Amino acid sequence: METHDNATQKFPATAAESSTRFLFSEEPFEEVAKDSKRILNYLFRICSTRFDNWSRRVTLMTCCFHLFRKKGSSSITRLTELDIDVSEIQNVKIYTFRELRSATECFSPANKIGQGGFGAVYKGKLRNGSLVAIKVLSAESRQGIREFLTEIKVISSIEHENLVKLHGCCVEDNHRILVYGYLENNSLAQTLIGAGHSSIQFSWPTRRNICVGVARGLAFLHEEVRPHIIHRDIKASNVLLDKDLQPKISDFGLAKLIPPNLTHISTRVAGTAGYLAPEYAIRNQVTRKSDVYSFGILLLEIVCGRPNTNRRLPVEEQYLLTRAWDLYERGETEKLVDAFLDEDFNIEEAISFCKIGLLCTQDSPQLRPSMSTVLEMLLGEKDVNKENVTKPGMIFEFVEAKNAGQQKSKSEENSKTLLSEGKQDESSSSGTMSSFPTMTFTAIYDRSN
Ligand SMILES: Nc1ncnc2c1ncn2[C@@H]1O[C@H](COP(=O)(O)OP(=O)(O)OP(=O)(O)O)[C@@H](O)[C@H]1O
Ligand SMILES: [Mg+2]
Repeated sequence: METHDNATQKFPATAAESSTRFLFSEEPFEEVAKDSKRILNYLFRICSTRFDNWSRRVTLMTCCFHLFRKKGSSSITRLTELDIDVSEIQNVKIYTFRELRSATECFSPANKIGQGGFGAVYKGKLRNGSLVAIKVLSAESRQGIREFLTEIKVISSIEHENLVKLHGCCVEDNHRILVYGYLENNSLAQTLIGAGHSSIQFSWPTRRNICVGVARGLAFLHEEVRPHIIHRDIKASNVLLDKDLQPKISDFGLAKLIPPNLTHISTRVAGTAGYLAPEYAIRNQVTRKSDVYSFGILLLEIVCGRPNTNRRLPVEEQYLLTRAWDLYERGETEKLVDAFLDEDFNIEEAISFCKIGLLCTQDSPQLRPSMSTVLEMLLGEKDVNKENVTKPGMIFEFVEAKNAGQQKSKSEENSKTLLSEGKQDESSSSGTMSSFPTMTFTAIYDRSN
């Protein structure tokens, strides 16, 4: 009969380590399953050599078998479901549900930091101590694992200092969860532009840096990533700030994770109508220039320190773009700039940023500059004064024209129309998921590039 010593010689430390790892670690089953045969052999040999009492041997073996089966069964299902060669998704960290549940203290409401159109976002602490933002995609956001992982692989391979890093995901059972780097200073929607109170002082250099950073991130997605990525949802709640107030664009590539037939996309898009280029809202034309339009709105918001829609203001000031165009035409753009800025800031630069915002929001997509040109203008490498600006495209004009059968030009009338049509959120359209039930936009998904 083989002695225990012989057994350990034949099944050395690595097998013992693998067993422990297999039974007690939270690593994905796939990673440890390759050792399974060896582990089983090892456990059975230990059982048969260590315990002279037969009933103890049987009990221990039964325990080992059940432990193995329990841990393995759900994972085996997962593997079968996955039906995907794990090597195909190298570089994508796959988290277990258990790991994320423990990181968020069972998705405790205390750790919930936001709720968007795709689902809830939780702050989490992983076992290695790192902080993450965990986005639990809602039930209808689920798509097939293969498609999901394919997109995740693309998104997580994109790295830029002005883009939020996607660390990995969880695809267990019906869960579709995204794990991002955690940004300490929340989003622009909750700080500079939102109605909520924030202790952050947004000086002109800080705002300038945020505008430039967002432009850099977007230019990278548009012009350097291959195939290029259209964000489709540039807005204040998708610009997050790190501890040094460096801006990072979030949610890029997310639209591709959502199955094409989803109705909530229409809700989501309608909820942020203030940022939507008219051709996107009306004709579903998604191009890089529709992102440029949204960026233009965001730029105006940052310089002016207010959301694109604010119903608490006098009616002629409620819509930022209308207001910006009126003041620009009258040669009074300086009135647009945030009155909270210190007196000694570079007002000329702020005015030229407003003009860039208007260039980005021109009605004709062809006239809008590319993001790399926008970046040049923001950095002062290209003279904005030489640029001719044409009238902005305003979504509510289309609605108005459709309803009234004629185009009206007075901003007051435009404002009233948008109010009656949209029932937009009280203080802001920045990142709120307010319903906007009179408009439906569908089939946006399939126009990816
Ligand atoms: N990586 C992150 N770090 C810190 N906070 C985050 C992070 N990602 C999201 N959040 C917080 O969660 C909130 C909700 O984000 P989420 O993207 O789900 O919704 P949204 O941007 O408001 O709307 P939408 O679903 O249209 O993008 C954000 O406004 C932000 O406050
Ligand atoms: Mg978001």
